Formats: sequence, C-alpha cells, structure tokens
Amino acid sequence: MSTRRDFIKTTAGVGTMAAVGPSALLGAPAVRRQMVTPVSVASSNGIESVARACEIIAGGGDTLDAVVSGVNLVEIDPNDTSVGYGGLPNLDGAVQLDSSVMHGPTRGAGAVAALEGIKTPSKVAMAVMQYTDHVLLVGEGAQKFALSMGFEVEDLLTERARRRWIEWRARMSDTDDYLTPEESGERIEGFTEPDSYGDALLDSHDGVRPQGTINCNAVDPAGNISGVTTTSGLAWKIPGRVGDSPIVGAGLYVDNDVGACGSTGRGEAVIKTCGSHSVVELMRTGMSPTDACLEALRRIVTFTVEPRLRDEQGRPSFNVNYYAVNKNGDWGGAAIWSGARFAVCVDGESRREDSAYLFERQG
Ligand code: GLY
Repeated sequence: MSTRRDFIKTTAGVGTMAAVGPSALLGAPAVRRQMVTPVSVASSNGIESVARACEIIAGGGDTLDAVVSGVNLVEIDPNDTSVGYGGLPNLDGAVQLDSSVMHGPTRGAGAVAALEGIKTPSKVAMAVMQYTDHVLLVGEGAQKFALSMGFEVEDLLTERARRRWIEWRARMSDTDDYLTPEESGERIEGFTEPDSYGDALLDSHDGVRPQGTINCNAVDPAGNISGVTTTSGLAWKIPGRVGDSPIVGAGLYVDNDVGACGSTGRGEAVIKTCGSHSVVELMRTGMSPTDACLEALRRIVTFTVEPRLRDEQGRPSFNVNYYAVNKNGDWGGAAIWSGARFAVCVDGESRREDSAYLFERQG
C-alpha cells in the first residue's frame, strides 16, 4: 500500500502575543504576562459559528457558551442537511442526532447520541454536563432528559430531507416495491448544495452518501479552551448507529492545559484511532496544531486495511478532517484529501482557509 504524502501543504496560524502589565507604565520592572489572541476554528460550514464565538469571547463570555452558541446557528438552519433541524435521516427516515461538548476550565464533558426530536443537541449535551453526573445519554433516555430540562420535541425531518430520503430508498434496489422517480414519473428535483455547506458534505464515506457535521473550538485571551461537535451523522445510517461526534476523545477532545480538536468525516475511522484525543496528545509533545492533525490522519491511513475502504493505490477512499487550536492560540486544520477548507476567526475576523492534507485529489 502506498503511503505517499507528497502533497502536504501547511496552513497554520500563530496567536500568542506578549502583554505588558500596568506596572510597566508606572516605571516599575515590567511583569510580562502571556495573553492569547482569541481564536475560534470550525469546519467549513461554521463560518458564522466562529464569528459568533469570537464575538461572545470578545464580550467576556465563556468559551463553551461561545462555541455552542456558534453551532446553534447551524443546528437550527433547515438548509444545512448535515446538522440538527433539516439533517438527513437514517434508514427508517428518523433524524437521529449526536453531539458532545467539553469545557476546558472545569474539565467538564457532556454528550448525547441517537437523540431524536431536539433541534439543538449541543445544548442538551451541555445540560448533561451541567446538570448530571453522567457524560453520555443516548436515544430515548436522552430525549426524556431533554424534555425534563425544558427542551421541546419537534419534527426535525424537513420536506427537503424527506424527499432525498425517499429518493435514496427508491434507488436502493430494482427488485423491491418502491418505484424510482423515473418509473413513477415523479422526478425529484436535483439537489445542489449551497456553497456555504463547504466541505462538510463532501466528506462522504463513498463519495455518494452525505456525511456532514460541525465542530467548533475556541480559546480565549486567558488561554481557556472549549469545543463542541454536533451532527445528524451519516445519511441513511442503520438506526442506532453512533458516529464519532458524541464520543469524547474521538469527535472532540479538550485539555485546557494543551488545546482542543474536533473532527468531521467518516466517524468510524476517527473512533478507531481515538482521533481528537490523539491530536491533543500530539500537541502536548510540542507539535503545531496542523502537524498534529496530519499525524493523526496518518494513523487513520494505517488503520484503513479493508479493501472496500481503499482506492487502487491503497489510500482511504473517504475523507476525515481535523480542526485544532492550542493554548497559545495557534490553530490549524487538516484532511486526508486535498480540497477541504475550514473556518477560522482570529481577533474578530472570520475567513475560510485551505486545510493541510496528505493526498492530492486528482481532477
Ligand atoms: N463524523 C460524523 C459521523 O461520522 O457521524
């Protein structure tokens, strides 16, 4: 198997600045104190999320409130079919959501998996962290907990997502009893993703099945760090399938002494390699966020031994993206395949950056 990594491109930011204490102004010896330029990084579909997170941090808000408020914008957006309300459903047509949060300063973590009917699973994950002694609630139990905390249960399946699901179901087999749109004469409109979905929806398992997610991490001027990951997971998944997003250490990891990382893309590959935890541990050794993300992606390449998941050169046929910040406010993002982007907000300015990568996509 080829492990060619001939197209590694580096994208990184450096965010530490030295601040001089008031004593310097009074002529006393300067007491130098490291301040961090506030930063938020997210998957490409989080361009508004990083802006919101930075705004909240600039106003003195907590980093977890900041990132959760940021991803809530995407969770409640019916046009984003990868997250929350409007997310693509499972095999049975049910929208099942996964999310996790980690709060660096208090070492807190909360998560929900296979949660139905709540538009903002990240807020439920936060409630698990704040109001229970548990870390992860799933399925019916997670929904009951959300109801008890005052969340409203709603139908999350939008007409757009429902139509994509029935078209997929009709095309599953030519020997079942569902007519394809061509056979029934009801051609379902072609689906064009708006640009703002960015790479999240390109990160499919097989190039066909949508696999979107949003991860958002932030560091404040004092070096406090939080992160959140939220998703409707792999479209048409087996009911009950849980991806990496709600698994602490897989789709998200935060250590307030080091940094934060989150992921999008094929969750199974991230779970098997403890992806986000690996990135944070690599940063602990002194690696930059970008280099740590690339190294953790190489582990995924090594772990991908199934022929069905490899291309003709033995490389993964799917994509995974990591997004990371460290305690100094340095940031980066990387993917297995070229062409991915991520969102970053530094000092109040948001933009998309190209992710570093292991392999160049041809064509
Ligand atoms: N990374 C999202 C999922 O696999 O569900």
